[in-house]
Amino acid sequence: MIPRHVLVTGGAGFIGRWVVRELLRGGSDGHRFAPPQVVVVDNLENGRRENLVEFAGDPQLTAFVEGDIGNRALMQALFAEHEFDLVLHLAAKINVQESIDHPTGVFEADVAGTFHLLELARQRNAAFVFMSTCMVYARSDDDRGIDENHPTLCASPYAGAKLAAEKLVEAYHGAYGLRTAILRPFNTYGPFQKTTGEGGVVSIFLYRDLAGKELSVFGDGAQTRDLLYVEDCAAFTVRAAFADAAVGRVLNAGAGRDVTINELARLICRDPARIKHVAHHHPQAEIQRLLANATEAERVLGWRPTVSLEDGINRTRTWIKTNIPR
Ligand SMILES: NC(=O)c1ccc[n+]([C@@H]2O[C@H](COP(=O)([O-])OP(=O)(O)OC[C@H]3O[C@@H](n4cnc5c(N)ncnc54)[C@H](O)[C@@H]3O)[C@@H](O)[C@H]2O)c1
Repeated sequence: MIPRHVLVTGGAGFIGRWVVRELLRGGSDGHRFAPPQVVVVDNLENGRRENLVEFAGDPQLTAFVEGDIGNRALMQALFAEHEFDLVLHLAAKINVQESIDHPTGVFEADVAGTFHLLELARQRNAAFVFMSTCMVYARSDDDRGIDENHPTLCASPYAGAKLAAEKLVEAYHGAYGLRTAILRPFNTYGPFQKTTGEGGVVSIFLYRDLAGKELSVFGDGAQTRDLLYVEDCAAFTVRAAFADAAVGRVLNAGAGRDVTINELARLICRDPARIKHVAHHHPQAEIQRLLANATEAERVLGWRPTVSLEDGINRTRTWIKTNIPR
């Protein structure tokens, strides 16, 4: 399917702005298309208008709407005004620790919010792509990585809300034949990610290193992450959204390589004295090993990551250096 009118929720956020860019530039190598009309909705709770400045004046970016996906009247009006044929649903409360401390907010935004959007998509018969997360998976020590058949086990309300929303998406595909896809990217990093609490470990470590501050490693630092560069994540998302073969599927995306947080800290900071181990706030929500097996995405979409961890770290460091005051 080549969509013509796309709604991107959470499009002023970190991954969202890269997804918007991928749409507006008509894809990347191996997957080119005529750019669709794009509408972004974001309540700016964790996103920023500045993330979209690069696209100001692009005629394909029809509107940026500052609003909440839970605002039913607003969302109904948006769907009435634009004939969306695709919803890329990325808006979510993403802070795992906050979800443990305040679970109601994450339920309302991530579960109820997804439900209301699904209803609108159903009424318009718009395809629906749901950005879930690798956090829904149970622990695995398998060196082949976690594939989509691996059992799920949620250790935080954030993960629980994502899995609940996935099940709603699955039900709308089953009951109404809605064209849906569920995406489970592994930890994603890159330019535009926040360098503080709501950001990701790579950006936080890079910022602190550049500022000459200490890097805090939670627990013993032996936990691993499979780090996906954000442009690869955006290309994966758009490919999956456009592919007939992805309809009704769950797809992982990851680099296929995991590093311990200790290794990551050493890769970023040359001074071992500035790497400190601190107690984990919520050790029960920690997933000890996260390694993606993304062979299904390669088989179904012809997608594979193109940016190495070292290259991705360098690009992110350069961006933080020029854009984030210290
Ligand atoms: N960053 C990662 O490592 C990662 C990995 C896997 C999945 N994801 C998922 O990808 C999506 C994007 O994550 P991100 O890292 O870019 O986070 P982000 O916080 O930068 O993006 C989410 C955006 O949604 C907006 N938002 C939140 N609640 C909203 C609401 N109720 N109404 C309207 N807008 C709302 C926020 O303001 C923000 O701009 C999320 O669904 C997240 O769960 C992220």
